[in-house]
Amino acid sequence: MRLFVIGASGRTGHEILDLARRRGHQVTAYVRSPRKLKAGGWLTVVEGSPLRPGKMAEALPGHDAVLSAIGPPTREAFRPSTLLTDCARATIEAMRAGGVGRLGIVSAAVLFPEKGLYFAFFKWLLRHHAQDLRAMEELVRASGLAWTIARPPRLTKSADEGFRALDGALPPGSTAMSYRSVAAFLLDSVEQRLHIETVVGLGRGVESEMRPS
Ligand SMILES: NC(=O)c1ccc[n+]([C@@H]2O[C@H](COP(=O)([O-])OP(=O)(O)OC[C@H]3O[C@@H](n4cnc5c(N)ncnc54)[C@H](OP(=O)(O)O)[C@@H]3O)[C@@H](O)[C@H]2O)c1
Repeated sequence: MRLFVIGASGRTGHEILDLARRRGHQVTAYVRSPRKLKAGGWLTVVEGSPLRPGKMAEALPGHDAVLSAIGPPTREAFRPSTLLTDCARATIEAMRAGGVGRLGIVSAAVLFPEKGLYFAFFKWLLRHHAQDLRAMEELVRASGLAWTIARPPRLTKSADEGFRALDGALPPGSTAMSYRSVAAFLLDSVEQRLHIETVVGLGRGVESEMRPS
């Protein structure tokens, strides 16, 4: 497949790139800081802001899907921001103009109505970020694109690629998983046309754990 990755220089973005390369995909990384990536046979690096739909639309034709893993710098996740909403608006506009219909985008489990002290703390801590994520998701849901929204819990660095995915809810006991597993989920979704127009809760583990025996 030809994949167009936004947020490719970030932690989830790096894992998307690495797994996409291993799976034999052609990738375009659309980044504001191209020095962070090394272009090669399988990877084209295009410099541009995810807030500028015109530039993105020029680079999009010919791709099969867009994967977006944009995130604010940590300190900005605790302050009001419209970064994700603005990027989603620009991405949707660019995808319509560029003729690409499939979008996989990273959101967060903080939007699930989970109860308990652990979730209550993170919901309070990340309340501004959650507001931006919610508005981002609303735009994506109304976009008319073939979208998949991934809502992972807290992310950690590890080589683990396994995940549990549940449509519309957080898999039971899900509190953390790896950046790489989120990348694996997004790639599986676009490769196999899974979870279209679906918000998907993610967790650590393996898919077979989610199926009834
Ligand atoms: N980290 C977690 O524990 C966690 C948990 C659940 C959900 N998530 C979600 O996962 C997503 C990705 O998280 P991550 O930890 O992989 O992110 P990250 O490592 O912080 O990477 C963020 C990416 O967004 C880009 N970016 C940030 N601000 C930008 C701006 N103003 N203009 C253009 N590009 C900008 C960065 O580009 P530069 O390299 O140029 O800065 C980078 O490519 C986030 O939306 C977050 O809500 C994260």
